[in-house]
Amino acid sequence: MRTHDLAVVGGDGIGPDVTVEALRCVHAAADRFGFRVTTTDHDLGAERWLRDGVALDEASTEELRGHDAILLGAVGDPRVPPGVLERGLVVALRVALRHAVNVRPVRLYPGVTSPIRDLTPERCDLVIIRENTEGLYAGGGSTVHQGTDHATAIQNSITTTPATRACVDYAFRLAQARRRRVTLCHKTNILVEAGKLWTTVVDEVGTSFPDVEQDYVHADAMCQHLPLTPERFDVVVTDNLFGDIISDLGATLQGGLGLAASGNIDPTGENPGMFEPVHGSAPDIAGTGRANPAAAVLSAALCLAHLGEHDAALVLEAATASVLAELGNAGDSTTGIGTRIAERVGGADPAAIGDPTVSLMTAMGAVRTIDQQKRPTPHDRSLAS
Ligand code: IPM
Ligand code: MG
Repeated sequence: MRTHDLAVVGGDGIGPDVTVEALRCVHAAADRFGFRVTTTDHDLGAERWLRDGVALDEASTEELRGHDAILLGAVGDPRVPPGVLERGLVVALRVALRHAVNVRPVRLYPGVTSPIRDLTPERCDLVIIRENTEGLYAGGGSTVHQGTDHATAIQNSITTTPATRACVDYAFRLAQARRRRVTLCHKTNILVEAGKLWTTVVDEVGTSFPDVEQDYVHADAMCQHLPLTPERFDVVVTDNLFGDIISDLGATLQGGLGLAASGNIDPTGENPGMFEPVHGSAPDIAGTGRANPAAAVLSAALCLAHLGEHDAALVLEAATASVLAELGNAGDSTTGIGTRIAERVGGADPAAIGDPTVSLMTAMGAVRTIDQQKRPTPHDRSLAS
């Protein structure tokens, strides 16, 4: 029987609450599609840091590396200074596991209310591919004249060709399996050097995908276009910080951060992907049953898609959507919602929420298949010749 071995980092606050529900749904999908999922819990997050001052150590990274994928709940706790776990655990794992790609779907499901007036599900189904290891997130920098009126901070940003290319290549492959349109989102008129590199890479990679249309939007203009004309976008590829910002905007479009899923992926396939809801740890409602597990379940669906179980992923998404369409009753609890989604996995029909052939879940499965063949990039081909 096919077995997928998942590392589970429930983390802090509502992280463990929603992760339990995600796993309940994953097991239901495994039952329907005849595969097995094994899980190992990993003790990382605020408690660990408070106990032994460790956000992430080498041994934990190596353990995580040994699994097929990682499910992360959420990290963050008022007792831990801001940044310690965000940078020391989440960003550190993204970098250590070479997660050059962060997949962030923006999809409005039928029956979910968007704050954007008149937005319909047909008009809102795109995916943001965020570069996930570089840009201003690379860290590094210095402050001079500290403690004076002239204190001056320098914050480094890096943009390397390999990570940019890996990200752009993934975006094109995904678009090819979907609606064949890639939009680069950057700020090339001001960030001239990084912008030039991104544009060059998009042009270069794009030559291998002549049937994929190319488009460009500045990051500031994106904040207008995304809410007003989301139908313009299929796959949006962007730098780390722009991706962080516009994906929160995207989450708003689709009904809130409670529905926003994400997957951190090493497109070479060498390291396991890490799948996490975009929302935070909401410590104030931890254990109260008020957290919506939908984003965690949808992140687990991305995980299954990436592991090649795209039929299971499609069904998990459809089951989640069918439950989301009914929410809003005061009695809905974390466990109640998770249990309902898991129950629906047996009979959910992916076609009920749109054409499964252009779904992100199917596309991620297709990209994964190509990954396994290790298709050479134009750069590899030029080196070889
Ligand atoms: C996200 C979050 C993270 C980020 C934090 C928690 C490090 O905002 O996943 O979007 O800034 O990338
Ligand atoms: Mg963010």
